[in-house]
Amino acid sequence: MRYSRLSGFFVCFTILCCLGLPAFGAKVAVETTSRVLPATAYLVGTCDEQGRPDVCVIDRAGIAETPSGKMIVYVGIRPSRQTAKNIERTGTFTVNVPNAAILPQADYCGTVSGMKDGEYFDKFAVTGLKQEKGADVNAPVLTDCPVILECKTIQTKEFPDGQHKVFFGEVVSYHIASEALDGGKDKPVLQYDPTRGGTLAYFAGSAERSGHYALSAPMGHRGKVWQRKFPLPNGLEARPREKH
Ligand SMILES: Cc1cc2nc3c(=O)[nH]c(=O)nc-3n(C[C@H](O)[C@H](O)[C@H](O)COP(=O)(O)O)c2cc1C
Repeated sequence: MRYSRLSGFFVCFTILCCLGLPAFGAKVAVETTSRVLPATAYLVGTCDEQGRPDVCVIDRAGIAETPSGKMIVYVGIRPSRQTAKNIERTGTFTVNVPNAAILPQADYCGTVSGMKDGEYFDKFAVTGLKQEKGADVNAPVLTDCPVILECKTIQTKEFPDGQHKVFFGEVVSYHIASEALDGGKDKPVLQYDPTRGGTLAYFAGSAERSGHYALSAPMGHRGKVWQRKFPLPNGLEARPREKH
């Protein structure tokens, strides 16, 4: 009995090898245009011309440092986003790093626009996320987030993909929740345990597969029932991302 199972296994294995399927663990060459994942996703806070706050999710982002020691944050945003329009107008934005506690709300902010047909849509009121005006910029900071950077735009460039604009912002203020820190104020080291208020919780998922992003984004494929890994707050319904 044991031998017949074993020989069955070897027969299947040999057939798979002959079909040219890659062995488990082997590396497969993919399109060079495929996204590099996981990518950390940030909440970007901005204000419109009337001072109304908006927040969206951005994973085309990164951090650099100039030789003089200035910290620069860059975010790649489609010009159609309300966030891009707000940054163009105010020259400021905030980058907020969510933790596990607010993931569903954070993710929701990446699925709807803060402006629909000229009508303001208040994502803060809908999700219950809290905000207040930044200390040094004309943009909201998300007080639920353990890490908050306030940035002033110093340069804007077209992204080579022709679809995104990159805003480079100099960090003018940086706040970290004490519970997310190891090492104290003088030698701050972010710790990554989300259960202790740490930050490394939100990654972009495979947009290409499902037409959607996000850890908590719908898990099904097109046309199937959409489900979220996490329940949404305030009775919000799972939804596919708006196209805009
Ligand atoms: C995980 C995730 C990552 C995203 N990354 C980006 C991005 O890098 N650039 C971008 O323009 N939009 C990105 N989006 C989409 C925007 O967050 C989304 O279009 C949002 O509704 C824009 O809101 P706004 O119009 O209020 O600015 C992402 C969404 C999610 C969920």
